[in-house]
Amino acid sequence: MLGRIVGAAFFVVTLAVIAGTLTVRADEFTKEDLERWQNEYMSVVEKGRALWVSPELGTNGVACAQCHPNAANTHPETYPKFQQQLGRVIALRDMINWCILNPLEGAPLALDDPDMIALEAYVMYERRGVELAPGKH
Ligand code: HEC
Repeated sequence: MLGRIVGAAFFVVTLAVIAGTLTVRADEFTKEDLERWQNEYMSVVEKGRALWVSPELGTNGVACAQCHPNAANTHPETYPKFQQQLGRVIALRDMINWCILNPLEGAPLALDDPDMIALEAYVMYERRGVELAPGKH
């Protein structure tokens, strides 16, 4: 009898601990956190926009915005997809590097370069709300 009560009590305490952990995890950020995260995100988007309109990624004075004003014809929502230029299924950042290398005659960025993340952030921000369509041509 006592064993059963102790067993039941242990079970209830275990459940409470699990529930407590889950609740704490779900509530771990405040309105101020959200604001800060949004501001940091937008500052990266703005950095991407600045790179987009500047010739600094290349060597021939050409900027992304000359062929893709406001990220036109970049279709980030279709990646990953097969691209003929590279002959395989690639991520958006591979295509960004292809354009840095070819039209801009620049040096490709490391895939985790903060400039690459900023370019991606800018392109995705301009296309926000567009339905995801990976693989689409
Ligand atoms: C001289 C014109 C030109 C410039 C400048 C240029 N691009 Fe492109 N871009 C192209 C062409 C051409 C394609 C290939 C279109 C295709 O095959 O989908 C392309 C494709 C892309 C795509 C993929 C589009 C798709 O539909 O899949 C992305 C992303 C992209 N460019 C990003 C950039 C970035 C970033 C820069 C600046 C570093 C840049 N482009 C500069 C001409 C240009």
